[in-house]
Amino acid sequence: MTRKLEDVARAIVAPGKGVLAADESSPTIKKRFDGIAVESTEASRRSYRDLLFTTEGIDEFVGGVILFDETIRQSTSDGTPFPAYLAQRGIAPGIKVDKGAKPLAFAPNETVTEGLDGLRPRLKEYRELGAAFAKWRAVITIGDGIPTDNCIDVNAQALARYAALCVEEGLVPIVEPEVLMNGTHTIETCFDVTRRTLQRTFQALADQHVPVEQILLKPNMVLSALDCPEQATPQQVAEQTIRCFLDVVPAEVPGVVFLSGGQSEQEATRNLDAMNKLGGFPWELSFSYGRALQAPALKAWRGKADNVSKAKDAFLHRARLNGAARHGRYSADMEAAVA
Ligand code: 13P
Repeated sequence: MTRKLEDVARAIVAPGKGVLAADESSPTIKKRFDGIAVESTEASRRSYRDLLFTTEGIDEFVGGVILFDETIRQSTSDGTPFPAYLAQRGIAPGIKVDKGAKPLAFAPNETVTEGLDGLRPRLKEYRELGAAFAKWRAVITIGDGIPTDNCIDVNAQALARYAALCVEEGLVPIVEPEVLMNGTHTIETCFDVTRRTLQRTFQALADQHVPVEQILLKPNMVLSALDCPEQATPQQVAEQTIRCFLDVVPAEVPGVVFLSGGQSEQEATRNLDAMNKLGGFPWELSFSYGRALQAPALKAWRGKADNVSKAKDAFLHRARLNGAARHGRYSADMEAAVA
């Protein structure tokens, strides 16, 4: 008997735990590797993911790892397929199943995420490869006259169709409607757009009969844009994010796992910590960070075998700090504990 999806979802966001997003597509991981002057080849990508996944101690803080299509088919250095290796350590393997955000017709500067055609057989295959959960990312951009309701709706519809298929096929869907933090907008604008996006996403999920107690939500935090002159404090981010979510995210959703979306690793940890310090919400509030968990490890590694152990230390340290933020027990002086 396979585990109930709700139990799988709850295990991923068990106290102190969150998700490592290691599902960078080949162009995205190339960009990351370019930043440390490492050539992106199948072998270098495997070595790097191996370094992350085999880090001792991360199972205390990482309940799930999102993989990319190439990665779910790769193995550890001693030949254990990554999904089986992670599952052995009590870490749920997940898989990115969308095919990326593509220009939306008649909607300048807006995108719709593709990947629904043929999704059911792909989900079946990923399950056979060991995936326990999936991820689909929709991208909403704030700018002049955007986002339009049309853009939010087509993305919400696609997220709901994806989520419904996942549940039918026995995978926990991570539903990710990301409002980008690029631009100059204020935290108030981010609040309004995030609220509108989440409201329409949960409406589409309800219309399509998706049981929300079997999903995880992966949203942006409510933040000031990267180039907004007036940056909100972690306290303000925490208050506005929780206020927004209490309004539109059903209490039955087991967990909210934030993306980092371009925040520095310290900001992402500080903001999550501020929310968990506040408390007073029905969901687990956790992380599903890509850049904010990996940046120090990437920098320490630089593609060199000699640096692997330093890179693992940096990754474990970041995972531990985010684990502390899950409990609202992070403080800035904990940053210094790393080499
Ligand atoms: P970041 O945390 O780097 O935004 O990545 C998370 C992710 O999975 C985006 O889809």
